[in-house]
Amino acid sequence: MNTDIQLGVNIDHIATLRQARGEAYPDTLEAAKTLLALGADYIVIHLRRDRRHIQETDLQKLCRAFAHKVHLEMAACEEMLELALKYKPGSVCIVPEYPNELTTSGGLKIEEKDKADLKQKIHRLQEAGIRVSLFIDPKANSVRAAYNLGADIVELCTKDYSKAKTQKQAQTLLNEISLCSLLGRELNMEVHSGHGLNYKNVREVALIDAMQCLNIGFSIIARSIFVGLPQALLEMRTLLDRE
Ligand code: PXP
Repeated sequence: MNTDIQLGVNIDHIATLRQARGEAYPDTLEAAKTLLALGADYIVIHLRRDRRHIQETDLQKLCRAFAHKVHLEMAACEEMLELALKYKPGSVCIVPEYPNELTTSGGLKIEEKDKADLKQKIHRLQEAGIRVSLFIDPKANSVRAAYNLGADIVELCTKDYSKAKTQKQAQTLLNEISLCSLLGRELNMEVHSGHGLNYKNVREVALIDAMQCLNIGFSIIARSIFVGLPQALLEMRTLLDRE
């Protein structure tokens, strides 16, 4: 078993708090430095077209400090592509994005008509040395589509798993995530998962052998209100331990 699962911490909601008052704090760079020093492997940010939380200056500062640790979530649009090429984070995750959604609503729907454009965007990012992940639902055909588009990484969406109403439903979804992880690994892609993972539901996903990295945001930042960022991170890290 692979014992070393990585953790990407999404800090969008540190920026949400800052934007709520239009202040310069809490500072995303300070948060990122704290999290990396405490054992987070990546800092995840989603630069949305509506700029509701993360701003271009966050991307700039974080990439200046430790670009290879920055994992940028973005829509597959020209505006975001140019920003990624300008600041060069270590990796990018292409996600679907809709104007009034509270958070990312699920995996990318990779439609035939969009494939050529997506493939070309992935290639442009890779040529600049940026690794590319595609956020997809845990379906075998989506994993194969990501592979055919040339993705380096697939991030399997755990939203439905995190919303499962019964143990049986959760187990069925977990099996799908597990099978897609194996397929991703067989196709030589790195396998990530994320969305809605929290202190109660993360363990089962972390124990999937082919899983290499989990990207978690809201639950860690929410927990940090009560126990502080170091303790919130430590508690999550402990749950990821496969020993
Ligand atoms: N992965 C992706 C692709 C996402 O869009 C998000 C939400 O921004 C996450 C992971 C983290 O989700 P959560 O904040 O629910 O942990």
